[in-house]
Amino acid sequence: MSTISIIFTALFYISLFIFIVGMGRKIYQFSITPAPLKIPTAPTPLTQTGVVFRMIREVTLFESLFRSNKWIWLFGFLFHFGLLLVLIRHLRYFIPGDLPEIFLLIQPFKYAAFLMVIGLSGLLVRRIFVPRIRYISAPSDYLMLLMLLVIGISGAVMTFTSNHTDVIMVKNFASGLLTFDWSNLPTETHFLVHLFLVFVLLAIFPISKLLHVPGIFFSPTRNQVDNARKKRHISAWALKQEKEHTVKLDQTLGEDK
Ligand code: HEM
Ligand code: HEM
Repeated sequence: MSTISIIFTALFYISLFIFIVGMGRKIYQFSITPAPLKIPTAPTPLTQTGVVFRMIREVTLFESLFRSNKWIWLFGFLFHFGLLLVLIRHLRYFIPGDLPEIFLLIQPFKYAAFLMVIGLSGLLVRRIFVPRIRYISAPSDYLMLLMLLVIGISGAVMTFTSNHTDVIMVKNFASGLLTFDWSNLPTETHFLVHLFLVFVLLAIFPISKLLHVPGIFFSPTRNQVDNARKKRHISAWALKQEKEHTVKLDQTLGEDK
């Protein structure tokens, strides 16, 4: 194997390791963070089924973003929807051997690259030109958008211009990463940039705003049932404290007798 292939193979496992461990830790941290108050935002679901439907609408349609700002919704939705289709099409590199026939049908998903790039450009223009948004934007906000843009554009360059890469080689390389059957990767600069930034993205996922992916499921304003008038809400840690307090009280009363 060439040196560059060995370096990229190592980078893949390092970034995947950081991603899995980092995400595991964050998700655990989110799961034990107390939510002491009932704070679902209106219109609130009154049942658990209602919460499930609210979550589905939130994740698939970005419902609350739609209510708050139509422009951000449009660009945000274009980007995320494009990204989803692009990632589905990318599965062909990771599935070892012959691909299921469904992959012939999803060939047009390649045009999703344009949805992704248009969406990201809109979000970037908003950060640069809307004074209120520019004021609250941190360097990392720009970094995320720029990285995703470079990944999207370098991908589109390979797909839509004559700067193609050897996709068979990419498939052997990428599926080999999963089956531990390592092989060389193509070495065109735009492909290496594409891949390197994907690995960087994977590694910084657990310490970046990309944590909104697991985070949305733990958001109390979205995942709580509005049943405060029917059922007393006690967060897990408060319940534990209450039990300890009751035990102590029982002991004290016992001593008094
Ligand atoms: C469950 C899947 C996901 C959901 C429901 C989701 C939802 C959202 C929402 C609602 C926003 C807010 C837009 C705004 O107010 O500015 C957002 C922003 C963003 N998302 Fe996601 N997202 C998901 C997955 C991803 C993934 C996988 C990535 C990238 C790898 C990503 C990258 C971003 C970025 C970079 C922004 C910031 C856009 C900006 O700068 O304004 N998202 N996402
Ligand atoms: C290890 C992971 C990845 C590998 C090996 C890879 C490889 C490739 C290759 C070889 C192409 C050119 C396809 C062609 O010529 O037909 C491509 C296109 C593209 N890639 Fe990636 N990529 C990876 C991850 C990603 C990620 C995470 C994103 C998005 C954040 C992305 C976005 C794109 C886009 C938008 C295109 C153009 C549209 C398309 O052909 O589907 N890639 N990628």
